[in-house]
Amino acid sequence: MEIINNLPSPVGLRKDEIISTLLREEYGFLPSRPFSVTAKEESSDGGFAASKATLKRISLTCKGEWGEFTFPVSYAVPRVGSSFPCFIHLNFRDFIPDKYQPTEEIIDNGFAIFTIYYQDISSDNGDFTDKFAGVVYPEGKRESDDCGKIGLWAWAALTVLDYALTLPELDHRRISVVGHSRLGKTALLAGALDKRFYCAFSNDSGCSGAALAKEKTGERIKDITKVFPYWFCENYLKYVDKDENLPFDQHWLLAANAPHRVYVASAEDDGWACPKNEYLACVAADEYYKKQGSVGFIHPDRLPLTGERFHDGDIGYHIRRGSHFLSRDDWHNYMRYINQYD
Ligand code: GCU
Repeated sequence: MEIINNLPSPVGLRKDEIISTLLREEYGFLPSRPFSVTAKEESSDGGFAASKATLKRISLTCKGEWGEFTFPVSYAVPRVGSSFPCFIHLNFRDFIPDKYQPTEEIIDNGFAIFTIYYQDISSDNGDFTDKFAGVVYPEGKRESDDCGKIGLWAWAALTVLDYALTLPELDHRRISVVGHSRLGKTALLAGALDKRFYCAFSNDSGCSGAALAKEKTGERIKDITKVFPYWFCENYLKYVDKDENLPFDQHWLLAANAPHRVYVASAEDDGWACPKNEYLACVAADEYYKKQGSVGFIHPDRLPLTGERFHDGDIGYHIRRGSHFLSRDDWHNYMRYINQYD
């Protein structure tokens, strides 16, 4: 099979060494974890999805060495049953349901789901005084290795995980993080930073997400840092036009998710993200997973065909028909992947 030669290998490095390289050079170091997270139920609707689920709006108040920050989340949970596997979904809107979150279908498959509207954590722009950014960066100023917005959004997913782990109705072993595109990059980072996740699901995350930078088509580091420099730490700018000889690459981000699962979903027509390099990152992360004693990526010795799914390893994968979108196909593959194991 076609592979990309001379990729820097994470094999031989400890997981904390991989993560500190990714944080120092790309995403930036996150704010410290909160000392406490307190939940307040703002509303509860037991008639949601034909009364099959309860939909709650909850405020989470976090206290930490940086001060205090409160953000809202939505939580939909089936009304009948127990030990529900759960998704923490970072989404582009706070609608329930939403075109990226078919909530009733998720409930019907026996899953609970949290939704974080990402801009409730901090705006999707270079304003570092907004919301949580304003709490952790007084006057909106960052050091060159302080995290950008992706790091702040990932911080929120870890915080929702803290809260989810206090809920008796959830299966605490099977709480996963999901995101699409910029929020797929975020989900992969959140997964790398917290071993308590069951799986990190990256949907069409592309450049600076699941796709290898080396030999990538579509978006490159120069493009992403030109329009969205604030997603990353300032150090990442030094890699503009250096995609071909980075000292690390995006398979390190997948590898840093070991030993828990990671899942990469691609869409055939998503050329900007580069499905081929999303696949080749899974291939390249396999060796590190195996070295940790995990089943790595089980796949044929060739590039995938549209419609294929590879669900037998700790690195899960599918490529579907269509364009850049978090579709029902993607969700059904994610639920199928989780359900086949436990
Ligand atoms: C832009 C950006 C991508 C990103 C996408 C998204 O297209 O260039 O890197 O993944 O937005 O988040 O929708």
